[in-house]
Amino acid sequence: MATGIDRGSSAPWPYPRLVAHRCGGTLAPENTSAGFDACVRYGYRMVEFDAKLSADNVLFLLHDDTLDRTTNGHGPAAAHTWPELVALDAGAWRGAEFVGTRLPTLADAAERCARDGIAANIEIKPCPGREVITGTLVAQGALALWQGRTPPLLSSFSFDALAAARDAAPSLPRGMLFEQVPADWLRIVSELDCVSLHASHRYLSEPLVAQIRASGLRVLAYTVNDPTRARLLAQWGVDMICTDRIDLLT
Ligand code: G3P
Ligand code: MG
Repeated sequence: MATGIDRGSSAPWPYPRLVAHRCGGTLAPENTSAGFDACVRYGYRMVEFDAKLSADNVLFLLHDDTLDRTTNGHGPAAAHTWPELVALDAGAWRGAEFVGTRLPTLADAAERCARDGIAANIEIKPCPGREVITGTLVAQGALALWQGRTPPLLSSFSFDALAAARDAAPSLPRGMLFEQVPADWLRIVSELDCVSLHASHRYLSEPLVAQIRASGLRVLAYTVNDPTRARLLAQWGVDMICTDRIDLLT
């Protein structure tokens, strides 16, 4: 049983119970303004999105390392400058009604959050080899862009990116992302001074959630699309559910 720290219990947690995965889940092209539109439509108050760096160090939203799946561009995102990226279509792959949707910058996302009163979980999703600079610039950017508003929750699967974010903006809350929670999770979250632990719901159990929460951390479970499963996780004490089905989980 992990005990001995009390990191998150006293840390502010001004977030709702539900967060829309990749802005609007499966109802819109992921990580775009159309996702924010869907969020507003379904009354969601928080979005998760993936942030990375262009070749010329502009922070923008994209999940994959490459452009091919969700835009009409090709190859590694890190090889393209922002003027090249913003010219791409990031909506057509999801349906004709989304043709012309552009990739948003982190600043665009901050503006939408402010306009619609939506909180953010910014997942730092560095392109390979760019972990530290992406963590640093996302944290600095988030600090400046969200000034005076609910602080965005920063998360990452990359230890190095989250460590860089901690060093660049210690005041911003951090959550370590795992798929399956490793045995040494407490050491990792302690080093990063996290307020939350984020894990795939598939590998969570009631005792594990209890153990994590007993350490003072909040728990986010992703990606939960079945309302019955979401209710069970909430009963176990999971603090936040990240979902693609913002139309089903309300
Ligand atoms: O933050 C939860 C979730 O977004 C992590 O997985 O691959 O969808 O970014 P992924
Ligand atoms: Mg993500």
